[in-house]
Amino acid sequence: MVKERSETNGQNRAKTVLVIGGGPGGYVAAIRAAQLGAAVTLVEKEKLGGTCLNRGCIPTKCLLRSAELIRDIREHGAELGVRTKGVEVDFPQIIAHKNQITKTLTQGVGALLKMNGVTSIQGEAVFTAPKTVEVTKPDGVRETMTPDAVIIAAGSGNAVPPIPGIKENPCCIDSTRALSLETLPKTMVIIGGGVIGLEMACYFASIGTKVTVIEMLPKIAGSTDPEICELLMRTYKKQGMDFCLNARVEAVTDRSVVYSDASGRHEIACGRVLLSAGRRADVTGLNVEALGIALERGAVVTDRQMRTNVPGVWAVGDCNGKLMLAHTAYREAEVAVNDMLGKKDAIDYSIIPSVIYTTPEVACVGETEQSAREKGLDVQVVKAPMALSGRYLAENPKGTGFCKLLYDRKNRCVVGVHMVGSYVSEIIYGAAMMVHSKLPVQHLDKIVFPHPTVGEVVREALFLL
Ligand code: NAI
Repeated sequence: MVKERSETNGQNRAKTVLVIGGGPGGYVAAIRAAQLGAAVTLVEKEKLGGTCLNRGCIPTKCLLRSAELIRDIREHGAELGVRTKGVEVDFPQIIAHKNQITKTLTQGVGALLKMNGVTSIQGEAVFTAPKTVEVTKPDGVRETMTPDAVIIAAGSGNAVPPIPGIKENPCCIDSTRALSLETLPKTMVIIGGGVIGLEMACYFASIGTKVTVIEMLPKIAGSTDPEICELLMRTYKKQGMDFCLNARVEAVTDRSVVYSDASGRHEIACGRVLLSAGRRADVTGLNVEALGIALERGAVVTDRQMRTNVPGVWAVGDCNGKLMLAHTAYREAEVAVNDMLGKKDAIDYSIIPSVIYTTPEVACVGETEQSAREKGLDVQVVKAPMALSGRYLAENPKGTGFCKLLYDRKNRCVVGVHMVGSYVSEIIYGAAMMVHSKLPVQHLDKIVFPHPTVGEVVREALFLL
């Protein structure tokens, strides 16, 4: 644990700030610090935008939008009076669209940094002493920097479990490679049924790949509400995906995966194997160990102000291994900068929403039934079906999906919201405001929801209390 230090006072404000990493943690920290008056330099060894813009959130959303369009026409088109003579998948164009959007947004980050007066340098940073960083630029020129404060925002990489054959197999890809395949595989085995595995499964299954997900736990989607997971499984299976749960991958051979479960040993032939078995914080090459910066399983240890144990050094985003989400990194960046510039702030991970962007979408915030039980909270659980929303039904005639609300009887406020259905990623921030503000339910009752919207289902759930 990092000891909480006393708040930075006015005189200790950092005047020069170096940010290492140009992903959501790094560029938000750099822009925020510059806006608050610091002289800021940002160093990025690859492309600005980090995992989110180059190989994560944004490119996958492009691919998933193509997938959703195809699925909508195939599944709902005829019922809604739109008949087509088959849907043709133009795989190279799907990838080209994704590349174009990614390029626009990464260029946008460069422009934003410039507009806010941040000096952006391409190069690789290495600590040589606390608050002394050497940057090697692409032409080999080295520059030593001695800022008042350093923010590490170095990101994460794919975890590779010790499965025999996995590294040697050219058919085995990670989520980065999966974004830019030249040809669409006919079959794919996905190792890991977490967020990345499910989003990839949804994309590939929608555009014509036969997908099998192998997950070692008894359920997919990690700690997501179990009822939502059951609905997801049912829906994904209808979409043509296969699942092997409680399954242990024994080996990856040339174009097949060998796994075992309670019924024995099995082998699945496949064109591609996609590994999505988690991500790990990555500060390799930064020389943080030599400075005595505390690490835990490769992640930089931070406190609620994003401080490391070394004065003058903060760490935000995936590299601290807390909640590997771009929006967590944004908030951590704000907290770190506020702290270093003398403004009181602290991170609260309990109110950060999470989303799975498959069809259907999943969006959750706050306590789950299990975590509420573990904390001894007296919660009432209510569940409103999505079909109560006229708009939802108009667009999804089969109308599955629901909004589950957890109400803390003692404190008379909503402590958790879990939704599955279309648009829920766009509604969850309202639920996050309820959970964060702890507003008593009689105040929430006075909020007027526009009609007809899918968000009305939250109001329907509130009525059930
Ligand atoms: P994850 O931790 O969400 O899921 C990995 C899954 O792989 C787990 O269910 C685990 O039990 C399983 N697994 C691990 N080893 C295995 C093995 N040998 N055989 C079978 N199953 C195995 O990690 P994931 O999906 O790779 O995502 C990484 C990070 O990226 C997460 O922190 C996630 O939150 C973030 N992310 C968030 C997105 C979003 O917000 N929509 C989208 C994509 C990623």
